[in-house]
Amino acid sequence: MSSLQGKLGLVFGVANKRSIAWAIAQAWHREGARLAFTYQGERLKDNVEELAGTFGPDTLILPCDVTQDDQITAVFNEVGSKFGRLDLMLHSVAFAPKEALEGDFLNTSRDAFKVAHDVSAYSLIAVSRAAAPLMTAGGSIVAMTYYGSEKVIPHYNVMGVAKAALEASTRYLAYSLGPRKIRVNCISAGPMNTLAARGIAGFGDMLKHYEAHAPLKRNVLPDELGATGAFLASDGAAAITGQVLYVDSGYQIMGM
Ligand SMILES: NC(=O)c1ccc[n+]([C@@H]2O[C@H](COP(=O)([O-])OP(=O)(O)OC[C@H]3O[C@@H](n4cnc5c(N)ncnc54)[C@H](O)[C@@H]3O)[C@@H](O)[C@H]2O)c1
Repeated sequence: MSSLQGKLGLVFGVANKRSIAWAIAQAWHREGARLAFTYQGERLKDNVEELAGTFGPDTLILPCDVTQDDQITAVFNEVGSKFGRLDLMLHSVAFAPKEALEGDFLNTSRDAFKVAHDVSAYSLIAVSRAAAPLMTAGGSIVAMTYYGSEKVIPHYNVMGVAKAALEASTRYLAYSLGPRKIRVNCISAGPMNTLAARGIAGFGDMLKHYEAHAPLKRNVLPDELGATGAFLASDGAAAITGQVLYVDSGYQIMGM
């Protein structure tokens, strides 16, 4: 039997076939989970319908801008009425205004700071609060983060600060939801060539830097993030919560 047989999951963050959310969704699906998807706005609706539709014509696909509480409520009402329960949730969502992802961090505007934190960190709290009442048999929540939360990565700027907030939120959520057997963890991925990543100035150099300096001398593959996502969702990770798991070819251990 596959490790996620019979599990019901909700995926935030598919934009296209390169999205990390899509890699993890495919792994969850392969392991037997039934999934629902959200998309950020009309612009991405067709993409998500085309991808998620490959899991079956009746796959639940709902709009959700995570900065809008009414849209979050509508998603969980719908998931509740279609699924009756929820076991897994993936938060693979981040955004910062482009001008904040280049140049000097000193120039980060109040507005860019607010937007980056609202979309990329607070949203995990908002969707976890909405998911918890549906996770009646316990659950696993997985969020995506990056090493720029703990070390300075040139150009990552305010997104690094938002990822630090996301990782701290993961720990506090793990403590809050632990008594309900709901686990909350982050995957810290090495750089992947996605839509969001292309917004970061000098992203191509990051890929080259990892290849040269990570112990495994290569970048991470989408399937490898999928496999870690499936592990964290499975009973194999039943005693793991509040953690940041590095899937980065070992880059995080290096000092020089
Ligand atoms: N690509 C990388 O190198 C990398 C590395 C580590 C972590 N991550 C993280 O992985 C996650 C997924 O990013 P990705 O690289 O797959 O890029 P992506 O562009 O495919 O995914 C980002 C998603 O965030 C969604 N999003 C942005 N603002 C939103 C909003 N207001 N409401 C709802 N959804 C919104 C987008 O629609 C998109 O689906 C992000 O949290 C990102 O920070 C990416």
